[in-house]
Amino acid sequence: MPNARVSRFVIAMDGPSGAGKSTVAALVAARLGLRVLDTGAMYRATAWLAHREGAEGEQALAALALAHPVSFQGSRVVIADTDVSEAIRTLEVGQAASLASTFPSLRRALVGQQRAVVAQGGWILEGRDTTTVVVPDADLKVFLTASIEERGRRRWVQLRDESPSLTLQTVVREVVERDHRDYTRADSPLELAEDAEIVETFGMSAEGVADRIVALARGINAS
Ligand code: DC
Repeated sequence: MPNARVSRFVIAMDGPSGAGKSTVAALVAARLGLRVLDTGAMYRATAWLAHREGAEGEQALAALALAHPVSFQGSRVVIADTDVSEAIRTLEVGQAASLASTFPSLRRALVGQQRAVVAQGGWILEGRDTTTVVVPDADLKVFLTASIEERGRRRWVQLRDESPSLTLQTVVREVVERDHRDYTRADSPLELAEDAEIVETFGMSAEGVADRIVALARGINAS
């Protein structure tokens, strides 16, 4: 039964902000019987908690991450007994998470938790360093990409219901800033793993992108 093994796969998917990783990961997971580990949500939830607790600086954030591991309850994201699923999706928390993610000791704390979660297989992880640092030996590694304009437009569509005054220009600028930080940070920058499959998403539906990744996974399984 080839597909039984795919359901024990670990698929790692990285890519810049707004490339569509969350949507695609959910579709691939449903098709292959995997669970999704949204590693960005862990950086966001920790940054959210740090703000609530008034914690600042690398050591304080790393200590907070170790004391309060993020848990995923269905589609809900929970930290310190608080459901932060919606609260962590704002532009402000995104910026705070991006800054927090430059701290090596915070990264070490979260990477350790991520590896422990996926150790038994049956997961798709999405983030910035899952293919290069968290699980470089994943069964399949994918780098999802699209242009800055396209990614900015997608983010804007996601955010504008809650923030009607937000302009496309503001969101594109935020994507550019986030890209810069993600690609240039000293510890675990976003980079293309040598053996990752590059999947360009421009002009493709999320379903189309998921089809491609499912085909890649099944291809590996069959070989
Ligand atoms: O994917 P996202 O926008 O939810 O991620 C929030 C921030 O967390 C993003 O700016 C980069 C950081 N991040 C990271 O450094 N490493 C990861 N594996 C995932 C996210």
